[in-house]
Amino acid sequence: MKLWGGRFEKLTAKEVDDFNSSIRFDQRLYKQDIKGSIAHAGMLGQKGIIPLQDSILIIDTLGEILRDIEDGKIEFEIDAEDIHMNIEKILIERIGEPGKRLHTGRSRNDQVALDIRMYLIEEIDAIKAMIADISKTIIKLAEAHLDTILPGYTHLQRAQPITLAHHLIAYFQMFGRDLDRLMDCRKRTNVMPLGSGALAGTTYPLDREAVASELGFPAITQNSLDAVSDRDFAIEFASCLSILMMHLSRFCEELILWSSSEFGFIEMDDAYSTGSSIMPQKKNPDVAELIRGKTGRVYGSLMTLLTVMKSLPLTYNKDMQEDKEAIFDAIDTVKMCLPVFNKMISTMKVNKEKMLHAAGGGFTNATDAADYLVRKGLPFREAHEVIGRMVLYCVNNKKSLEQLSLEELKQFSERIEEDIFEAINLNTCVGKRNLPGGPAREAVIRSIKAGMLE
Ligand code: ARG
Repeated sequence: MKLWGGRFEKLTAKEVDDFNSSIRFDQRLYKQDIKGSIAHAGMLGQKGIIPLQDSILIIDTLGEILRDIEDGKIEFEIDAEDIHMNIEKILIERIGEPGKRLHTGRSRNDQVALDIRMYLIEEIDAIKAMIADISKTIIKLAEAHLDTILPGYTHLQRAQPITLAHHLIAYFQMFGRDLDRLMDCRKRTNVMPLGSGALAGTTYPLDREAVASELGFPAITQNSLDAVSDRDFAIEFASCLSILMMHLSRFCEELILWSSSEFGFIEMDDAYSTGSSIMPQKKNPDVAELIRGKTGRVYGSLMTLLTVMKSLPLTYNKDMQEDKEAIFDAIDTVKMCLPVFNKMISTMKVNKEKMLHAAGGGFTNATDAADYLVRKGLPFREAHEVIGRMVLYCVNNKKSLEQLSLEELKQFSERIEEDIFEAINLNTCVGKRNLPGGPAREAVIRSIKAGMLE
């Protein structure tokens, strides 16, 4: 018989049992469910809402059930619907009547809200640590490439010279914001909903604050209706993960491009690439591509959660059981991507010569040539025009700016002198961009330090 079977004259149809049941996926909440029940039972006993002896027996038995689950000794039942009722049922089977007192002053609606919040807090912390590892790898790579020049791009056209460190620190900033966002989401997740009952609280004199502090929550929810029907925190988490995956996928996209023979900027380690079943020459950046692809799954989870919650009337509705697979899949996907991404970037080889060579083409120093004329007194708009004509001349004569002779250069402006060659040297172009946030060595070092202080 179902734990809620009293009001029913007929058994649930078999297919409804299968359809309704969430144990297949919510069993991963077993630890949180048991911890929450232990705190609830302890408080019920302390407050004299159930006999103290019963609460002690419940707590001990829940501890045994936890160990049995972890030792693989327990088979959950579809019939018992979800993790909450499976555990309660096992408890009752083991200790009888005292076990039946556990659910006093509680509903599965506040129980499931508690369990997911506790689960997500743990996962936020785990993902935070993985992102921090990637940030460390990026800093290490950046420190090794403070002087590695490559072209910076806009419109995927070579624009101005930068360093690989500067490029990498752009991602360090993104991951820094991802961490911030996760910590912010953690605050709103870290609120204790028990005591909200099914929707309207409870008549028992529960000590909500005591349960919260026992479970390590700094705060309790302030409206019982909201508490049982709020999944904002899960949506926020999925949105944090979506943005994180967007960053990873941009990084991966660049690594895919960079590892093509057209760019040749990097080479993935053999251990992080795969071959082709037909083309013997191929070495494909599958890991980066899969991370890029899996970004879609995580966005999908965010869309699922938003859509499940859209238009739901207060308070709990069974639709909300659909939150779990979405958020679990987003978490699993991200936790799979982060460590493999970290290994992939820490093992890839950087081809400095190719990067420098690419920076030397495409007139990446044209802005600096214009700035040179500005320093010689020409207004910037005019300087832009002069260098534009100079670039056109170079294109027609298949030369780069620095390959022009002083005589050729002087045809474009009398102001040009020998010192232009120093001014448009790529090292100068990068080194002079030393404002905060710029690509110059000292500026990048300052950005790294500032990011690490936070
Ligand atoms: N398995 C349910 C869920 O995940 C638990 C809450 C069910 N509550 C209810 N009254 N049917 O949402």
